[in-house]
Amino acid sequence: PVVGQEIPHEAASLHVTGDALYTDDLAVRTHGILHAHPVQAPHAHARITRLDTAPALEVPGVVRVLTADDVPGVNDAGIKHDEPLFPSEVMFFGHAVCWVLGETLEAARLGALAVEVDYEPLPSLVTVREAIEAESFQGGKPHMERGDIEAGFAGAAHVYSGEFEFAGQEHFYLETHCSIALVDENGQIFVQSSTQHPTETQDIVAHVLGVPSHAVTVQCLRMGGGFGGKEMQPHGFAAIAAIGATLTGRPVRLRLTRTQDMTMSGKRHGFHAQWRVGFDDNGMLQALDATLTSDGGWSLDLSEPVLARALCHIDNAYWIPNVRVNGRIAKTHKTSQTAFRGFGGPQGMLVIEDILGRCAPQLGIDPIELRSRNFYVDGQDTPYGQPVRHPERAGICWDQVLTSGDVAARKVAIAAYNASHEHSKRALAMTPVKFGISFNLTAFNQAGALVHVYKDGSVLITHGGTEMGQGLHTKMLQVAATALGVPLSTVRLAPTRTDKVPNTSATAASSGADLNGGAVKNACDQIMERLREVAAKRLETSPGDVRFLDGRVSRGDGRGETIAWGDLVNQAYFQRIQLWAAGFYRTEGLHWDSSTMHGSPFKYFSYGVAASEVEVDGFTGAYRLRRVDIVHDVGDSLSPLVDLGQVEGAFVQGAGWLTLEDLRWDESDRPSRGRLATQAASTYKLPSFSEMPEEFNVALLERAHEDGAVYGSKAVGEPPLMLAFSVREALREAAAAFGPVGTSVDLASPATPEAVFWAVQEARGGA
Ligand code: MTE
Ligand code: HPA
Repeated sequence: PVVGQEIPHEAASLHVTGDALYTDDLAVRTHGILHAHPVQAPHAHARITRLDTAPALEVPGVVRVLTADDVPGVNDAGIKHDEPLFPSEVMFFGHAVCWVLGETLEAARLGALAVEVDYEPLPSLVTVREAIEAESFQGGKPHMERGDIEAGFAGAAHVYSGEFEFAGQEHFYLETHCSIALVDENGQIFVQSSTQHPTETQDIVAHVLGVPSHAVTVQCLRMGGGFGGKEMQPHGFAAIAAIGATLTGRPVRLRLTRTQDMTMSGKRHGFHAQWRVGFDDNGMLQALDATLTSDGGWSLDLSEPVLARALCHIDNAYWIPNVRVNGRIAKTHKTSQTAFRGFGGPQGMLVIEDILGRCAPQLGIDPIELRSRNFYVDGQDTPYGQPVRHPERAGICWDQVLTSGDVAARKVAIAAYNASHEHSKRALAMTPVKFGISFNLTAFNQAGALVHVYKDGSVLITHGGTEMGQGLHTKMLQVAATALGVPLSTVRLAPTRTDKVPNTSATAASSGADLNGGAVKNACDQIMERLREVAAKRLETSPGDVRFLDGRVSRGDGRGETIAWGDLVNQAYFQRIQLWAAGFYRTEGLHWDSSTMHGSPFKYFSYGVAASEVEVDGFTGAYRLRRVDIVHDVGDSLSPLVDLGQVEGAFVQGAGWLTLEDLRWDESDRPSRGRLATQAASTYKLPSFSEMPEEFNVALLERAHEDGAVYGSKAVGEPPLMLAFSVREALREAAAAFGPVGTSVDLASPATPEAVFWAVQEARGGA
């Protein structure tokens, strides 16, 4: 079958030659297009007391300035109705108060500089701690509880508590936010958008314009990365372009510069965690009591579901009999934080991994031993009541990494190295991942597809998912070719559009291939059922006996006549057989009650294990990632090369979040308070080639068929990001190695060289 074959990404050659089209590439092909530029507020929090756009209109090339008065429908870009598209109150430094349209981008930029705005500055909350102190929260406060927490602590031999604040992350997709809108001769609005959620972009554009959804079509060719940052955030930008196009009758392009993107769009949520944990004498977890406060920024956006997923992942792969977790969303004067690969899961899991990393030395148990001892076993439920299926897979991956990574021998070598090096220490840490697959909100777990078989046998597929580099389109081509029994070259894929497949969910939650694959396969199955009848008659056998393979159709035993796929299709056409179908898929067996935080929200869990070895320099805190070994469970891989790339990319992105990327906002009382100080690649350090592991071994778990998922495959997009906890834990252990045996260190997150330096100092202070 075509699924499971190691083929390159469907657009790999286009990507590397520069021929792949992204939204903004379409602008140069669009005649008479206008360019949009924002006027960004220079305050973290302020009331707008005067807005004079007249001076901008004097600037040559400025065509129009868009303000709140221009909104024909609802002045709101969010799903929670807490995100005015044109604000009267500035809620973060860099908030766009109006947009200028120009014949050129430069004209629009100069126009934006000419707009006069008066502000009355208001008090602001910039850090999560300030918000906690001021009790500035937004949205619901979820509570998850299982067992008897007080009895759990009463019976625990060791109880520890702590506090942990950790940072968010900038998506830094290579392609910044971009939308192009135009109005056709019927007044229909056509929006090309770099969006993970074309349907929601359509919905928001429609309600901002005050028109029904059928008047708006959204298309996404591909994204140059989304990573969750284009799940909610594109809508407002698309709406601005659409208003501009409606009012001027000309196409409008809105593409953010990198700095605009970094200062205006939401990021991964930073969190604050307060915790208490109890272990028995064997290091078995007995009780966990935690309060997680996410830094939501100025509006809710996806903060509530992100927080729900954080709570649902605080157990990671560990059985904790008694659990109580409270969640809150801080409202701060920052960008509105949003989805980012893992969607709160990484934040919840980081808390338990940090706890285990800190407590292991105090318990006197090797962290590798402490972690594996606490793994779930068959028959146990998560704190929210979902039975943990296949818990043994964490252990299988763990053992495989122990062996393939030669962990025992390397630990001996590391101990010898550390004994003979006073100013340089090494450490190796292993961490597991268990990640729930499906949207927590059951309704989102549905997808649609359209499969056309043309008279010549060629096939065109359209599905509701979007391509952001993750290889979804590649997998969908493979699914269709397999389901129809044709070569890959027979199938072509058309861009994602809301007028082809309606009511789609975001391509998110790693479920793109599961959901859209299910829908593509369902459409193919319908067509095949009809073609089987046609073939059976011709081959004088039963429909169930007909074999479709590689574009040839024959009897099951291969005897007798073989019909070419194209000939069979052509015959079917003349018999007036419908050669296309709309497919649909919904994930069965899910239920979730968000008010009690209870249920089985996930179709299955993805597992993986990583071992990372680092070397830390005691003078500077600088470190090297010497070697990484990963075994990750993707079920029966639909596309092994794509999945390998996803595991590697996610791991590196996770390592960037935890060890390099450092978002800094101005927390001072200067007028620049609330300004994002790290607003370009110069100050916001992403992982690059020099930060890759020196040795990087990734294996996909074998014999891992997942029943009930498309061709036995599992989701891959998000889970491997969390394998990067192993890097952070290795850094903690290397820092601790500068102190006496049994030293426990706190490590800031991100664990930048500076943070590692201070951890080394702490360890030495304990000496
Ligand atoms: N891979 C690339 N190259 N670019 C991306 O933007 N996004 C990730 C992941 N892998 C992303 C990526 C995120 S956040 C998700 S949820 C999944 O891809 C979404 O796609 P899927 O559901 O098809 O796996
Ligand atoms: N990831 C995980 N869960 C989600 C997401 C996502 O991007 N969106 C909604 N639920």
